[in-house]
Amino acid sequence: MRQVYLNGQYLPETEAKISIFDRGFVFADAVYEVTAVLDGKLIDFAGHLARLRRSLGELDMPFSMDDADLLAIHRRLVELNQIDEGLVYIQVSRGVADRDFIFPDRATPNTVVLYTQKKHFSTRSAAELAQRVIILEDQRWQRCDIKTVQLLYSSMAKNQAKKAGADDAWLVRDGLVTEGSSSNAYIVTAEGAIVTRDVSNLILNGITRRAVLECARELGLTLEERGFDVAEAKAAKEAFITSATTLVSPVVQIDGVAIGDGKPGPVAARLREIYLAHSRAEAI
Ligand code: PDD
Repeated sequence: MRQVYLNGQYLPETEAKISIFDRGFVFADAVYEVTAVLDGKLIDFAGHLARLRRSLGELDMPFSMDDADLLAIHRRLVELNQIDEGLVYIQVSRGVADRDFIFPDRATPNTVVLYTQKKHFSTRSAAELAQRVIILEDQRWQRCDIKTVQLLYSSMAKNQAKKAGADDAWLVRDGLVTEGSSSNAYIVTAEGAIVTRDVSNLILNGITRRAVLECARELGLTLEERGFDVAEAKAAKEAFITSATTLVSPVVQIDGVAIGDGKPGPVAARLREIYLAHSRAEAI
């Protein structure tokens, strides 16, 4: 059975129980991170930790565990669950308090939960990875830069995509694509430039995004961090997404319109390959 971490203890998943008064449960007052594991090692871990701390700070949520502890717990869970390829999920909530909109006393201990999930990254073919997306209005709140567990609209969007026979949704606010329901969104223009939304409160500043843009820079590709509309996306040569759960995955269709020749494109394939190589080399 899967071993998980809860508030200082390693437990079988069926024994890990938290209070119904936990603010993560009652108010979605919790933040999280998902770190990919390749060859039993953590990918972009420093970036995920830094963003976790940023999310905590934006919500004025006190948290006393240090980076070395968090790294040790991540590693221990990878080992206990024999994860060669997969994910580690960490969630930190503001802890247990009576239901009150006002944040509880700063002395309230956080609830910290971690667990792993097996997932195959490196063996998936381009065709398996190919995503068909639909376009939906971005009806999330306007602090998408904070990685909170308040994911209901993203979940609704993905379900709507599934109902429409697609794999995922790209979200549009004020006529411009923000990001995917749980990924950053990119297009490749006819001139070969990579375009992705600039970082602001309207998107999550992806850890994979940063690393993949660095790979693109190394390849000498032109980068444009700006908004793009659906017409530009549909006319693009290529499209793709990035996230810790998909790494780099091609998008082959947007609202039923084939992107390029409708097959996974070479830029996304090359970036995936280089990102995987870099990640493996720098994994901890
Ligand atoms: N989601 N944008 C959104 C809205 C996301 O939820 C995610 C990640 C990303 C990509 O961020 P990163 O490259 O740091 O994973 C962008 C995670 C994987 C999830 O919720 O499962």
